Amino acid sequence: MAVPAPNSSGSHKPEINDVAKLRAAHSGMGLALNQRYLNRQLGRVLQTLDFDREWVRGEGPYLIDTRGQRYLDLYAGYGVFGLGRNHPFVKAQMHALLDSDPPSLPQLGTSTLAGLLAQSLVQRAPRSIDAALLTSSGTESVEGALKLARAATGRPRILFCERGFHGLTYGSLSVNGNEEFRERFGPLLPGCEAVPFGDIEALERELDSGDVAAFIVEPIQGKGVYVAPDWYLAAAQERCHAAGALLILDEVQTGLGRTGRFLALEHWDVQPDMITLSKALSGGYVPVGALLASRAVFDATFDSMERSVVHGSTFGGNDFAAGAGLASLMAIDQEELVERARRLGGLLMELTHPLLERFEIVHDIRGLGLMWGLELGPPSGRIGRRVWEAIERRQPGLFAQLITVPLFREHRILTQVAGHHMNVIKALPPLTIPEEELRRFVSALEHVLAEAESGLLRGYANFGLDLGRRLLFAR
Ligand SMILES: Cc1ncc(COP(=O)(O)O)c(C=O)c1O
Repeated sequence: MAVPAPNSSGSHKPEINDVAKLRAAHSGMGLALNQRYLNRQLGRVLQTLDFDREWVRGEGPYLIDTRGQRYLDLYAGYGVFGLGRNHPFVKAQMHALLDSDPPSLPQLGTSTLAGLLAQSLVQRAPRSIDAALLTSSGTESVEGALKLARAATGRPRILFCERGFHGLTYGSLSVNGNEEFRERFGPLLPGCEAVPFGDIEALERELDSGDVAAFIVEPIQGKGVYVAPDWYLAAAQERCHAAGALLILDEVQTGLGRTGRFLALEHWDVQPDMITLSKALSGGYVPVGALLASRAVFDATFDSMERSVVHGSTFGGNDFAAGAGLASLMAIDQEELVERARRLGGLLMELTHPLLERFEIVHDIRGLGLMWGLELGPPSGRIGRRVWEAIERRQPGLFAQLITVPLFREHRILTQVAGHHMNVIKALPPLTIPEEELRRFVSALEHVLAEAESGLLRGYANFGLDLGRRLLFAR
């Protein structure tokens, strides 16, 4: 599709002064616009994988394309759509809020909606938490946590986990445990050190230096869906506090009911000094995030009137974001979505666990609530293993795409590979997903796994059809 030409008058102003009509007039041009003005390499990836649909609508767990076909979205905008897309209650609340012409962002003033969202979050958090700083994204919440940790302790170092993901701005990137995101962007923040996830002795060794401000960790690592061992977070909290360091739990992905508790930390009863939130708090409407902190940490940073604005951002706590956050929390309560995530997460695990026995290529199934991952590995036979290795030599983690692509093309189900160079398939279903759709996902997965495994066992010549070739040779 050709890049849309500038309008006939040569002016840069659109000829149609109506956003919906402007969009309708450019139906089918999403990819061309992307390739001309946005991220071209992303466009190439979408084309190679055949994921380049143009979406015209979102409805609950579905994305709908220009032909009216519905795709079950288990990618959920990286976890943003815990409530599904365009949740009717949140939508109505946002309409009403827009119509009320709120006095957003007085800056030298306070906002009732921001205060109410902070109150609502603090009330749902563990006892250690007493205050909130509202932000506009996950990475901004993390940046705040790193800054407050240094200010409150007067110490320089931050510990983080290998494979950990906390965002891509400089502070968050400095505590990112994935080399593929870090490389070429250095030098990063000094004093940030990685420890293996789940290794308490390694954490202890680093804490022993006495200059650690904080340890930041996800209760479940989003990259690869690795769940913290049962004893780990409590032990980390104990060691951090004994060493005078703070514990920051990053619940940007795991929070808001995703794991079957409002916060994942409730599974282990930990009392962190700070908690970061974002994603599903937005209801999918307005970017919003929050950094929850203990009173001690908060007051040590904002410790005088002069320093009342040492950290923050222009849009943090705006009325639309706060309203979207409050409406999302109301919807979660009204529909008992935390309990629903626990129940459906249990069902998903129960339905998929037998795949471990059934398929040689399924090596692990893990997760908590509706955060689920399936790890693939080579089959035991010589031929199958040789084919697996040939594929992996081309690009580690490529095999997982041979599952996600047919899930999308043949079954209209959008899933994701859980990280770079990883053969882990990940699903983050909306907490509102109908039970029969979860069951449909499992049947489709079984079907695709059976085809992939039999392809591998039959040998390379018959395997992967044109899809395999396209994936293998696209660059
Ligand atoms: C655990 C975690 N922390 C932080 C972030 C960064 O959030 P954002 O993309 O909103 O900056 C993410 C994003 O995926 C995340 O999963």
